[in-house]
Amino acid sequence: MSENITSQQPLKHIAFIMDGNGRWAKKRGLPRDHGHRFGVTAFETVLKHCEKLGIQTVTVYAFSTENWKRPPKEVETIMKLMDHYLAECEKKIDEYNMHICFLGDKSPFEEKRRARMERLEKLTANKPRVLNIALNYGGRDEIVRACNALIASGARNVTEADFAAALDTKGRDDPDLIVRTGGDLRISNFLLWQCAYAEFYFTDVLWPDFGPAEIDAAVEAFYKRKRRFGGV
Ligand code: FPP
Repeated sequence: MSENITSQQPLKHIAFIMDGNGRWAKKRGLPRDHGHRFGVTAFETVLKHCEKLGIQTVTVYAFSTENWKRPPKEVETIMKLMDHYLAECEKKIDEYNMHICFLGDKSPFEEKRRARMERLEKLTANKPRVLNIALNYGGRDEIVRACNALIASGARNVTEADFAAALDTKGRDDPDLIVRTGGDLRISNFLLWQCAYAEFYFTDVLWPDFGPAEIDAAVEAFYKRKRRFGGV
């Protein structure tokens, strides 16, 4: 990393929009499913490298509320990959060092998957680092669910803190940096409330090709930014 790092505050939380799996597969004449499989490998590499860099929290956008529109076979592949990853985490729970937290509405998931998600959230609760997995997540959906929870609690007038406490990310830090791979320059309904002061980094690199060198480049770009949080 370059020596002329200028940013004031350490980078604690990176959120990733893991885009480009389908195109990566297509370029190789492979079915889209293969792109997601290699996407999981990239995700694991990213987690390791973030740990090496001392990043406390990693958030990944694994499946959005809109991704149900994809062909059923593709949805099934992504869910199976997730199930497999979670089953492996559970098997190696003693070595696993991240607190897994799910962002998104768990209610559409079948009981077995939902139970495993909830079990892992509890089993990893004392781990030192945080992994937020956004699964069936949409920023608008999260905000509407928060509004409904506040209404149901009888709230009539809420503060920003009350609202933040009704979100899936309750009690957790906002992302410092949001990285999107795959070349598109948009937020796609990700962390709409939480991104208020995030820095954005976009790269054309497709997610399965995203690795340590690309993370270093994103981190270096972050440290060159001046974050003022509305001040001067
Ligand atoms: C976007 O690429 C990627 C997704 C919608 C799914 C991402 C999911 C994974 C990497 C697996 C999740 C599992 C774990 C364990 C984290 P795209 O398919 O939209 O790519 P394209 O834009 O090239 O079509």
